[in-house]
Amino acid sequence: MDKEVMRRFMGRFMEMTTGAAVLGVVAVADRTGLFRDLQGKGAQTLDAIAEQTGLEPRYLEEILATLSAAGIVVYDAEADTYTLPEEHAACVADESSPYFLGGWSQMVPALYRAIPGVAEACRNGGGVPFSEFGDDMIDGIARSNAPGTRILLTRKWLPLMPDMVSRLETGIRVADVGCGSGTAALTLARAYPNSEVHGYDLDAPSIERARVAAQEAGAANLSFEVVDGQSLPGDPGFDFITTFDVIHDVVDPLAVLGQIRGALREGGCYLMVEPVAGDTLAENLHPAGALTYAMSTLHCMTQSLAHGGVGLGAAWGPRRAEQYCRDAGFGRFERLEVPNPFNAFYRVAP
Ligand SMILES: C[S@@+](CC[C@H](N)C(=O)[O-])C[C@H]1O[C@@H](n2cnc3c(N)ncnc32)[C@H](O)[C@@H]1O
Repeated sequence: MDKEVMRRFMGRFMEMTTGAAVLGVVAVADRTGLFRDLQGKGAQTLDAIAEQTGLEPRYLEEILATLSAAGIVVYDAEADTYTLPEEHAACVADESSPYFLGGWSQMVPALYRAIPGVAEACRNGGGVPFSEFGDDMIDGIARSNAPGTRILLTRKWLPLMPDMVSRLETGIRVADVGCGSGTAALTLARAYPNSEVHGYDLDAPSIERARVAAQEAGAANLSFEVVDGQSLPGDPGFDFITTFDVIHDVVDPLAVLGQIRGALREGGCYLMVEPVAGDTLAENLHPAGALTYAMSTLHCMTQSLAHGGVGLGAAWGPRRAEQYCRDAGFGRFERLEVPNPFNAFYRVAP
């Protein structure tokens, strides 16, 4: 046995363990609003933070110690103060920032709830359905995806489809299938008030959240309905259909893609956004690949298999994505050049 190889592996394993444990404390800080309270405040003592936040000082001390040791908060030992640097605040405190990552600290712990069910399914088949992940999963997905979608969808992603942008400006019928909590649909409805946007999702609690968001925004050109992508309303059809992070999750991807193809009007097009991944395991042997496969095992794949689905998995890659679209009757498939670490963008048309 090569002891040096073992030591390196132990170091790597303990780094992962540390990340997993620290993320739990980050989740507590996120949930209590601590990061928002620290944002823009500069260096503060524990007493000052306790007074401002109203949090129990002993818990606060331990949480701040964790965050300091993990390099999230900067601790000044001489002054005995804690600072959340503005660059870090953009990632953990500011939900309006496109760099906000706080949703991950809600979503990843929610994945852990699936561990017993996934272990059981490994032996006996089936899986853990979406409904068993609970509100933290719905909220975590929304908060992880929303910062990018809200800001980049209209500024960076759609400009790569200038013809669709001008049609959206003129006014067309749009559907976002698997809309979740509705961020993409709401963003489209606000940006293109002449267009009519419909958000569809199978999950009733997600649609409820989306409706509340739409009502708060006062978007009159937007509606949300509980609809299975396997039975989309075909008439009068849509000029533009989108799915964000959905197709790899569904029970029967070919059926949903076929429905999307069938619901498109003449000249319409479909924007499919899926996790970035190579086509083979060999191409995905890096930390981002590990994250995608882990998310897939504990959520994406299992919730499809739970309903006897295909269980495509999140890392299904562009080659299979194209094959599925062609099998569903689409003739055109083009990958859009969007520099994005999380998502791949495909423009698909009949
Ligand atoms: C990972 S979430 C993405 C949600 C949202 N598009 C976003 O970007 O935040 C996948 C969504 O697809 C929905 N979904 C899965 N299968 C579906 C189906 N057959 N029809 C409609 N929605 C479906 C789930 O309920 C879930 O809200």
